[in-house]
Amino acid sequence: LRKTQIGVWRYAPFMPVDPAHKVSIQEGGTPLYKTEALGAEVGVPNAYVKFEGLNPTGSFKDRGMTIGVSHAKELGAKIVGCASTGNTSAALSAYASKAGMKCAVFLPSGKVAMGKLAQALFFGAKVLSVDGNFDDALALARKMSEEKKLYLLNSINPYRPEGQKSVLFEIWDQLGFKMPDRVILPVGNAANIWAVYKACMELKEIGWIDKIPKLTGIQAAGASPVAKAFEEGAMDFVPEGNPETVATAIRIGNPVSGKKALKAIYDTKGYATTVTDEEIIKAQLLLGRKEGVCVEPASAASVAGLKKLREQGVIDKDETVACICTGNGLKDPDTILANVPKPIPCQNSVKDVERILSEN
Ligand code: F0G
Repeated sequence: LRKTQIGVWRYAPFMPVDPAHKVSIQEGGTPLYKTEALGAEVGVPNAYVKFEGLNPTGSFKDRGMTIGVSHAKELGAKIVGCASTGNTSAALSAYASKAGMKCAVFLPSGKVAMGKLAQALFFGAKVLSVDGNFDDALALARKMSEEKKLYLLNSINPYRPEGQKSVLFEIWDQLGFKMPDRVILPVGNAANIWAVYKACMELKEIGWIDKIPKLTGIQAAGASPVAKAFEEGAMDFVPEGNPETVATAIRIGNPVSGKKALKAIYDTKGYATTVTDEEIIKAQLLLGRKEGVCVEPASAASVAGLKKLREQGVIDKDETVACICTGNGLKDPDTILANVPKPIPCQNSVKDVERILSEN
């Protein structure tokens, strides 16, 4: 390990890219919070939150993009592209700018959180608002790449998960080279849980760890092909045609890596389940009010899953659990504002302020 460096490139020996082509905005190196108040609330005292919202573009996607875009540079790619529910497009747009490449992002029309859309536009990508959902947008982006019109940086590109392995390396590093008993993460297109699994396998293979954390995937109830397959003990999933959830980041019915996600879950004696939109919003607010951490709805799904699985007895109270909170809450201010009180009208007087503060 590169002892003096924090972030994704600290783990460069585990990455298949020559650092000579590095395109980086200093991704990774995010905090791992010991969330004691949250842990007390849900009955898991050793609960941690890995806050991926503090990456350069505000989500874990930056970990994959630094490796993916560095490889694109290695190949001499001029135009890069991806389909996205928002975060992947924000990340790719930024890294393409840094690398001096042209970028096209394919977004499901009307279903991308405002902050993410603003980022892609801000970084200067060609933002294509596709009539359809994420799965449709991905099909179009894939067609463009098959016709060699762009270099595709969705997670079907294996370099992306390679970078995303680093989140697990970091958790292990931050816990003093110990693995948690369980890692919980939201599942959408299902590449991240696969990346985390691959990281575990690589550490085990070189003999640096014995214990593999139970990988636990959480999906929104309205977009849950992987969780449903798990509940049925199936090795593959059945795609869903009309995914719907407040957690737009994981509003995906036909996850590209869904089958791999199931393997990761079964192999690690993990688990998968669904949480409702209501449970997601409650968990999001809980993180804000107990821990001062603002995550986006998809990320709150991991904490909602922690609470639900503890209640069901799937998670033991003595487990050390790391929840990966994948993206920043500021990405989706509309959802926050829909679920908190309105600002309080106040006269320009001390008395009026006192009146307001004395109310509950
Ligand atoms: N959390 C957030 C905030 C995400 O943006 C995503 C995926 C996930 C979780 C799920 O990760 O797809 O690897 O299972 N967002 C993709 C995107 C689909 O386009 O930004 P996954």
